[in-house]
Amino acid sequence: MRKKVTVIGAGNVGANCALRIAEKELADVVVVDIVEGVPQGKALDLLQSGPVQGYDVMLTGANDYEPTANSDIVVITAGLPRKPGMSRDDLLMANYEVVKTATEQAVKYSPNAMLVLVTNPLDAMCQTAYWVSKFSKNRVMGMAGILDTARFRTFIAQELQVSAQNVTALVLGGHGDTMVPLVRLASVSGIPLTELLDQATIDRLVDRARNGGAEIVKYLKTGSAYYAPSAATVEMVESILKDQKKVLPCAVYLEGEYGIRDLFVGVPVKLGALGVEKVYEIKLTDDELAALHKSAKAVQELVDILKRKM
Ligand code: APR
Repeated sequence: MRKKVTVIGAGNVGANCALRIAEKELADVVVVDIVEGVPQGKALDLLQSGPVQGYDVMLTGANDYEPTANSDIVVITAGLPRKPGMSRDDLLMANYEVVKTATEQAVKYSPNAMLVLVTNPLDAMCQTAYWVSKFSKNRVMGMAGILDTARFRTFIAQELQVSAQNVTALVLGGHGDTMVPLVRLASVSGIPLTELLDQATIDRLVDRARNGGAEIVKYLKTGSAYYAPSAATVEMVESILKDQKKVLPCAVYLEGEYGIRDLFVGVPVKLGALGVEKVYEIKLTDDELAALHKSAKAVQELVDILKRKM
């Protein structure tokens, strides 16, 4: 039997998630949105791409959650995106209500699903879904690190004029300005980045990766990025559905790892059929750990605001 994925939010990120899931034939997809007609129309359009693109999965759209029943994975993209001048944190209260409702409804119909969060501010939205769903921590995770890492890898590849596929890198921390690209561990086919580029160039690339989302928001003016975010999300979905056990940076609930407790923060994890199957606690330098703790503190501040509202 085919797997089933629900994508909540039929906007830019959600629709592109549905498209990528279909093109990879990972699962049947149900797209849910509050706007009447939009999820139905987009799902039908995607379904009609099947004969041309050569995929055989079912795509349906809905404004309610009944058709989502028994999903293997629920991807939550519903909510507002950023506009120029806004930080992800500015979206906190509006998107909290959206994610709260979406999680309540989704878990009612799919009590055994994994939850993959995409809505920003990402780490605080993961915490919201974790509280509301009461799922175990291995079944709630957020997409950020893969995207931040992909941006860093892209800029490194552009600078060196090499294939981005040869570039490996790791970005830790919250999905915000305080994210922590680990330059020490970045490499090109095993060659340390620090042997290929001088410090000033590396600093410039780190800075651009950190602000990679804002750079796109500034161009688009009416919203935020969606092609790379949907690609990153579907890499997580694929690793879980196919039990690939990929090691990827994701926002997960930490209980003491890296000295961080009861908080969602981006760290490397193994993603397989059981969801988050392992958290890798790698040795960090004092500076890296301090940067990670600073990033975690920024996430904690948002979570504290939510706790006061609850
Ligand atoms: N239930 C379902 N869908 C909702 C709800 C809700 N309560 N509230 C809003 N939506 C839908 C909107 O109708 C819209 O179709 O969420 C969709 C969001 O789509 P876009 O505005 O295109 O935003 P998008 O670019 O997809 O970003 C969504 O992902 O990357 C993050 O920061 C981004 O938080 C944002 C989210």
